[in-house]
Amino acid sequence: MTSLQSPISNLVVLISGHGSNLQALLDACASGELQARVVAVISNNADAFGLERARRANVPAIHRLKLPIQSRRAYDADLAGLVASYHPEWIVLAGWMRLLTSAFLDRFPNRVVNLHPALPGTFPGTHAVERAFEAYRRGEVTHAGIMVHLVPDEGVDSGPVLAQEVVPIHPDDTLEYLEARMHAVEHRLLVAAMKQLVNTRSPIADLR
Ligand code: GRF
Repeated sequence: MTSLQSPISNLVVLISGHGSNLQALLDACASGELQARVVAVISNNADAFGLERARRANVPAIHRLKLPIQSRRAYDADLAGLVASYHPEWIVLAGWMRLLTSAFLDRFPNRVVNLHPALPGTFPGTHAVERAFEAYRRGEVTHAGIMVHLVPDEGVDSGPVLAQEVVPIHPDDTLEYLEARMHAVEHRLLVAAMKQLVNTRSPIADLR
């Protein structure tokens, strides 16, 4: 990895929407808290506000639409080529809402990081916060959580965990209150996990 020669790691961030976690990374890079720079932001959704956040930070903001005639693997192979052209040390899935196939993942072994609003082994897939909140109301869980993990394969929201944090659910919570607290934890945990990766530069295989 080129990161071994450079004190600053290059990040490519994949998004689909609001981009508040992207913003946390941009801010941490700008303040020097994170020894990294976001070299490109790619969205599968043209309307993603995260693209505007990237433009405001003078970072290339790229929309990559999946065409209906394109297979998932063809899209992912094309996406991998685009990402590779920015020479990232790390690829961060920060609210990226497409499952990636091995056509993408095999190009970047141990270098794809995902943020998911649930603890390991719980609520994989979409609407994780809503599902945790409903489970709490049914008395099935006492808390929600956040994790940051590597994406070694096509498993959904699974892979070696880099950081995790419990988020309590309160009796008087609404889904909106819970989501707001979840986002605040996400922003902090994602930056902390990326700091660990960027600063230690330890072989990621050791984290498995
Ligand atoms: C986050 O909750 C993330 O965990 C989930 O999608 C959301 C993205 O939020 N996968 P944002 O676009 O970073 O604001």
